[in-house]
Amino acid sequence: MAPSLALLLLCQLALYTPVTSKKECGRPPLIDGMELEGHQRVYSPGDNVALSCKRGYTPTSGSRIIICTASGDWSESRLKCSTKSCSFPKALDHGDMEFVDIVYQSTINYTCHEGYTLQGASRVECLDDGQWSEPPPKCTPVTCGLPPIPKNGRMVYDRKFTGNTTVFGFGGTYECFPPLALIGNERGSCSTNGNWTEPPECKFVTCSAPTGINNGYMTINDKREHGFKQTVRYGCNIDYVLDGPVEIECLKTGNWSIKPVCRAPCKVGITRGRILYNGMKFWIKDFEPNKISHTDVILVYCMNKEKKCGYAVSTQCIDGKLKIPECFEEPSDFTYKWYYKSLPSEIAQC
Ligand SMILES: *[C@@H]1O[C@H](CO)[C@@H](O)[C@H](O)[C@H]1NC(C)=O
Ligand SMILES: *[C@@H]1O[C@H](CO)[C@@H](O)[C@H](O)[C@H]1NC(C)=O
Ligand SMILES: *[C@@H]1O[C@H](CO)[C@@H](O)[C@H](O)[C@H]1NC(C)=O
Ligand SMILES: *[C@@H]1O[C@H](CO)[C@@H](O)[C@H](O)[C@H]1NC(C)=O
Repeated sequence: MAPSLALLLLCQLALYTPVTSKKECGRPPLIDGMELEGHQRVYSPGDNVALSCKRGYTPTSGSRIIICTASGDWSESRLKCSTKSCSFPKALDHGDMEFVDIVYQSTINYTCHEGYTLQGASRVECLDDGQWSEPPPKCTPVTCGLPPIPKNGRMVYDRKFTGNTTVFGFGGTYECFPPLALIGNERGSCSTNGNWTEPPECKFVTCSAPTGINNGYMTINDKREHGFKQTVRYGCNIDYVLDGPVEIECLKTGNWSIKPVCRAPCKVGITRGRILYNGMKFWIKDFEPNKISHTDVILVYCMNKEKKCGYAVSTQCIDGKLKIPECFEEPSDFTYKWYYKSLPSEIAQC
């Protein structure tokens, strides 16, 4: 190994040593975009060569000729080669483009958004003549045929259209002819694969005979089956309050919508004392009839024993239940009769 390497070095010395000593020029230095024809490695003083610009570069200023001087250096060249540029690309409607530069050999990649197909080249290159290799592509929408329409139904289009093709994104709302119920997608549209979305079905739906409610009645007291969207109204017996919708509807599931409930009134469960109801004070014995409605609020009076003052505490009737606040103390019959002025409802309020 070592002897052959030594031999190689020796040969190289033999070749090059005489050249440098005679002050000849080496291959001229080339800067960006420049080129020189031929493969000559050494030049004699007085030799001149013409530099030029590579493909895709435009010569700008200065002389192209350089001379090998007696000192073994090349004369200065003023030639500059600048890269050719292509025109700045226009934005692609319904698509995107990807590029880093627009000079010679740059490329632009084009892609279309969902629902659009590329017409033309997906990749263009800036050529050495400063032109793009292909005209810019277009993104055209995917097309579908006419929408599928369910039997006994129709589609209300988002906007008018003519012909027998539709474009991606176009759609509408399905409707079924009464009394049929729409089961499935209410909206349909031309999708990316060129097919319409799955259409719904129009079905005949019945709900079983509606049932009554406790402490109330049905305004249409016909206990028969009802069709889709048919309604039944409810009311409550006197003193009862309807909680929920007045009307129920036969849903497309074949079930009725949620029924209301009749909420019971409350009796104020104290025998001696005064209450505040609707902004007015009543002795309980005068509160006739002793009945308040569901969600009504009354106030009873409690005693602050430390400060010797009275204060009102509220309580609400919830479906027949009225909780008397714990601080309320029912006075004895004697106190109530003879010392009622000392009751918390009668003394100074806290
Ligand atoms: C264009 O796409 C090719 C292939 O997918 C990729 O190699 C190249 O980097 C892309 N060019 C640009 C400018 O994004
Ligand atoms: C679409 O309509 C044109 C005329 O309006 C007709 O010639 C063509 O056959 C129709 N195509 C389909 C798929 O219905
Ligand atoms: C579009 O619909 C046709 C007919 O129903 C079906 O054969 C085809 O597979 C669908 N295409 C796609 C991409 O789903
Ligand atoms: C009616 O409602 C019940 C309970 O919510 C449900 O289990 C049932 O499937 C519904 N009936 C129909 C026909 O959808």
